[in-house]
Amino acid sequence: MSTPTRNDAYAIEVNQVELDRLLLLGELYNPFVPDGFRRTSVGPGGKVIDVGCGAIGALPALCAIVGPQGVVVGLDMDERSLGLARQILERQNRAQVQLVCGNINDLDPAALCPPGPFDAAFCRLFLMHQPDPVATVRRMAALVHPGGYLIAHEYLYNGAHQSVPAVPAINATQDMWARTMRARGASPDVGTQFTAVCAAAGLREVDQHGWFSNRAASPAVSLAGVRATTISYRAAIMETGTATAAEIDALNQELEEAEKQQYDLLVIGDFMELVAQVPEGNARPLMANGVGGRRDKWETRVGGATSGPSRRSPGPETNQSRREAVAAPAAALSGVIGAAVGSRAILPFGALERLPGTGKLKRFLPLP
Ligand SMILES: C[S@@+](CC[C@H](N)C(=O)[O-])C[C@H]1O[C@@H](n2cnc3c(N)ncnc32)[C@H](O)[C@@H]1O
Repeated sequence: MSTPTRNDAYAIEVNQVELDRLLLLGELYNPFVPDGFRRTSVGPGGKVIDVGCGAIGALPALCAIVGPQGVVVGLDMDERSLGLARQILERQNRAQVQLVCGNINDLDPAALCPPGPFDAAFCRLFLMHQPDPVATVRRMAALVHPGGYLIAHEYLYNGAHQSVPAVPAINATQDMWARTMRARGASPDVGTQFTAVCAAAGLREVDQHGWFSNRAASPAVSLAGVRATTISYRAAIMETGTATAAEIDALNQELEEAEKQQYDLLVIGDFMELVAQVPEGNARPLMANGVGGRRDKWETRVGGATSGPSRRSPGPETNQSRREAVAAPAAALSGVIGAAVGSRAILPFGALERLPGTGKLKRFLPLP
């Protein structure tokens, strides 16, 4: 098989520290995967793909959702990460998972269909690394059958990370990553732009939820994860002139010191989830050239005419979830809490909701 092209906007180096960090990400964030799928019709027997699955990604969580009769595909451009995923999946005896090496931005959809078209395409911490997230979302949508779903979990680089006592190095570090990503042409702000991305890609926005974790119980592993990320960004941080080696080391030293403290609150990551649907019938996102291309080559055809999606007339799921968000935030949280049971590292935690009509994010504190 030929070597796939790389996404040059992806600034994280793959090394042993990074592979370990990717496994930690799976541990921490896979409990949040089923919640978004509950807003879809995808379940046992379904066909799903994790785009940018890395060293394991959400593959085990997706296997649990579609069950033994389902089909799960993991796509990533990095063969070394896929090699680790392959080993883990073999150990877990998950023969239903197929791994494909490729760059979604120029991969021929025929490489994935069959086994696609899929019922859902999932991605996590992925769109933020793309040079043109709308083009990537269209490519993901092209792998999904009409009426199927796209679910994205992306980080919010909003400088709102809080801890008691305060650790200014957390925000400073994350700001350094975001500036490096922008300098490399990536899209760290995509988690705040889901509505616009859906509109441009011709998808129906079903829902947006979010969450954050209070890691006060595990400062050492959590802050070490932040340091590990910086280590893997190091070359790109310096190449882009975002920070010097001395500045990087000073931040990591502050974080290392902070690992020894005790915390009442240690919030490190805010996540935003998008659940979107590929329109039914002929209202399906199309690429003008049928395979790939930039944003301006795409169009959405509704009933033969070219138009954008109707954001004023959300479907029943949207209305229902928004009513819940207004009337009973605690009830809206319960699904997330249920999904996280069994995960040691992430409890207790809160959730983020996009407030209807305002576009603003509200953070709900953990339930007692
Ligand atoms: C931050 S990691 C997240 C991995 C995984 N989703 C998880 O949550 O553990 C991003 C992954 O996306 C892959 N990636 C980035 N851009 C890609 C592209 N255009 N096509 C395929 N894979 C890509 C990288 O190789 C990397 O493994």
